[in-house]
Amino acid sequence: MTEDTDTPDDGAPTAGADDLAIDPWGSSTIEDYRSLFEQFGIEEFDEVLPDVAHPHYLMRRAIIFGHRDYRRVVDAMRNDEPFAALSGFMPTGEPHIGHKLVFDELIWHQQQGGDTYALIADLEAHSARGLDWDEIDEHARDYLLSLLAFGFDPEAGTLYRQSTNRRLQDLAFELGIEANFSEFEAIYGFSGETDVSHMQSVVTQAADILYPQLDEPKPTVIPVGPDQDPHIRLTRDLAARMRAFGVTRAYASFEADDAERELIAAAHAALSDEAGGEDDLVRCVEAANWLEREVEPSETRADAIRKLEAAGKEPVRPRVRFLDRNASEEAFAALIEAIDGEKRVFDEHIDAFEIDRASAEELAREVEVAHGDFGFIPPSSIYHRFMTGLTGGKMSSSVPASHISLLDDPEDGYDKVRSATTGGRETAEEQRELGGRPDQCPVYELYAYLLAGDDDEYAQTVYDECAGGERLCGGCKTEAAESMADFLEDHQARREEMREVLEDLDIDLDRQRP
Ligand code: TRP
Ligand code: SF4
Repeated sequence: MTEDTDTPDDGAPTAGADDLAIDPWGSSTIEDYRSLFEQFGIEEFDEVLPDVAHPHYLMRRAIIFGHRDYRRVVDAMRNDEPFAALSGFMPTGEPHIGHKLVFDELIWHQQQGGDTYALIADLEAHSARGLDWDEIDEHARDYLLSLLAFGFDPEAGTLYRQSTNRRLQDLAFELGIEANFSEFEAIYGFSGETDVSHMQSVVTQAADILYPQLDEPKPTVIPVGPDQDPHIRLTRDLAARMRAFGVTRAYASFEADDAERELIAAAHAALSDEAGGEDDLVRCVEAANWLEREVEPSETRADAIRKLEAAGKEPVRPRVRFLDRNASEEAFAALIEAIDGEKRVFDEHIDAFEIDRASAEELAREVEVAHGDFGFIPPSSIYHRFMTGLTGGKMSSSVPASHISLLDDPEDGYDKVRSATTGGRETAEEQRELGGRPDQCPVYELYAYLLAGDDDEYAQTVYDECAGGERLCGGCKTEAAESMADFLEDHQARREEMREVLEDLDIDLDRQRP
């Protein structure tokens, strides 16, 4: 993913870019992962980890730290239901060890049975980074060779590049109808100076994210760095706007927002308890009176009371409400037909009294798909920490000493590790006494993110020995450097074996210029 710090050369995002907390094309580092939880509602990965059957070591070591809605995918994995994984790579330079995290995440989901996609974001590289097509073709080949060498199964999965995928571009066009410039301005800091093609690359990425659901809706996870979260949020919104139907809960015929609904639900629960559980006995006016008596005054309370009073003697009855968002007349009629049990049909919604929310969601989606709509499930995401650069600071494709390219000579890889900054002390003596600081050490990260592989015990030993002062940086770096050289040699040999495989794949790596 973008471990990259280059500034986009079309000058976008411009206005307000400094105020953006996350800018996918910017150079800011993610300073504080915790603020991502609070500010943007990214959830902690810890919450879902216990339910993941065979978690990848990146999950076990909390390198994958956050997620959105990943539980959907975890549930699908556990129940042997279809799910998908997709990520994309901008071919702006050589693939490096930071990109291996995403390769691993994709391959792991593929091994868990997911329908897995990897794409080359060549339209984005061309428009947002200004790379020419020859460079793009060369880098695209390198990303794909590394992905295959790490174990991606191209027979089971799908590889594509944005520029030659017509279905993708058609989907991007459809999504563009639901997005407008003000929204891009707010999310990405785009301005009047921003290239039209850069904007197009944003809807193209949204289309990438929904692409696995073109044939049928399924839970889909997008493994990315947290810098890509704005794209995830936008796409989750666009996916909802593309739906023919929405499903919510309601308690009476009028519309209420989430906060009002919560108050009405509380009134209903309290009063129907008093009435011995007979739903029909609770009237809207009574609920209004209850709120007046029992709940602190607030704007929400006032609104709820007003609505309840207007509904008068209408009984308060919990129900599931189907909203007509963009449905055709035929689809709306078919949904009415498909709902079992008591229902009431209104102009733009249907209330159903005998089905639960989850079955309602499923039903709405089924009818939608049967009538030629997409029925998208909001895409999920998982977020991994960025590796620290070997020289400290951010790992960047444009600073060779900061990263190890997967194409680096094993000897160069060895040397880069040997000259890396560490979390060590001034002198060996001090280190023996105080211990090293593995949490601030890019060399320790190499072990945890890559070199220790699946061997948790090895990673833990390095950590403990460092923190305990038994491990000194010289020897530690030599050990890591040797291991890195072996890794590169091995990987590069596999890449050579994959050349033939790549040639036989249905992906055009010599793009015809427009
Ligand atoms: N924007 C991503 C990057 O900068 C690349 C990308 C394009 C992507 N389409 C995607 C990532 C879809 C995840 C999913 O690296
Ligand atoms: Fe880093 Fe190893 Fe030195 Fe510890 S001993 S600070 S892990 S280089």
